[in-house]
Amino acid sequence: MSDKKVLLLGAPGAGKGTQSKRLAEEFSLEHVTTGDALRANKDMETEYGTPREYMDAGELVPDGLVNEIVEEALSNASGFVLDGYPRNLSQAEYLDDITDLDSVIYLDVSDDELVRRLTGRRLDPETGDIYHTEFDMPDDDEIADRLVQRDDDTEDVVRERLRVYEENTAEVIQYYRDSDELVEVDGEQTPDQVFEDVKSVVTDA
Ligand code: AP5
Repeated sequence: MSDKKVLLLGAPGAGKGTQSKRLAEEFSLEHVTTGDALRANKDMETEYGTPREYMDAGELVPDGLVNEIVEEALSNASGFVLDGYPRNLSQAEYLDDITDLDSVIYLDVSDDELVRRLTGRRLDPETGDIYHTEFDMPDDDEIADRLVQRDDDTEDVVRERLRVYEENTAEVIQYYRDSDELVEVDGEQTPDQVFEDVKSVVTDA
């Protein structure tokens, strides 16, 4: 288990899940993802209501709930790759208080490409592996037949998620840019090329 602390930032569909999974394997890190944690507890009743009410509309789940999930997950990990958090300034400040990061990587991808990736994304519910209808389908028919689309990957919800991202998360990118921590990677390369870039950032940190 490595003790590297990596933050992966980027818009919905930028490839955070794809690259986090590979980084976690390569460096033996815990993959901490607020999106997966919330999806696994979508119908949990909390003082803020259920996560589903926010997620299916493409809105952010309240900070109080998400901060708790992240603090708990990070306290159990010596090294991690964090994906999906922070998504606003208040979460970024909270994260500063609970950990010190070694690498902050931003995957840069244009809006048109984000919509194409998200509406075509399919998930294997058994392994969590991520595919795409146009260019990355499994060879195995049994796997292909069980792939599902995420509830929030329909075009209307995708557009709302991108709007919410612009409104809240763009200032998070600026926050890390201002503190000179941010390393920008061209997220429009092939997944292998993107991985080579993020891997070298983490190795050099
Ligand atoms: P979350 O699950 O975090 O979703 P997201 O940030 O919207 O990001 P995605 O998982 O959609 O995209 P990704 O960047 O991981 O892309 P992927 O690798 O899959 O959040 C969902 C919801 O939960 C939020 O809307 C909110 O409601 C709530 N939430 C989560 N965190 C929260 C927080 N901190 N605060 C409040 N609320 C929170 O790739 C996408 C597709 O592109 C795939 O099909 C993949 O195969 C393909 N692809 C990947 N890389 C490439 C490449 N290089 N070239 C071509 N295709 C590629």
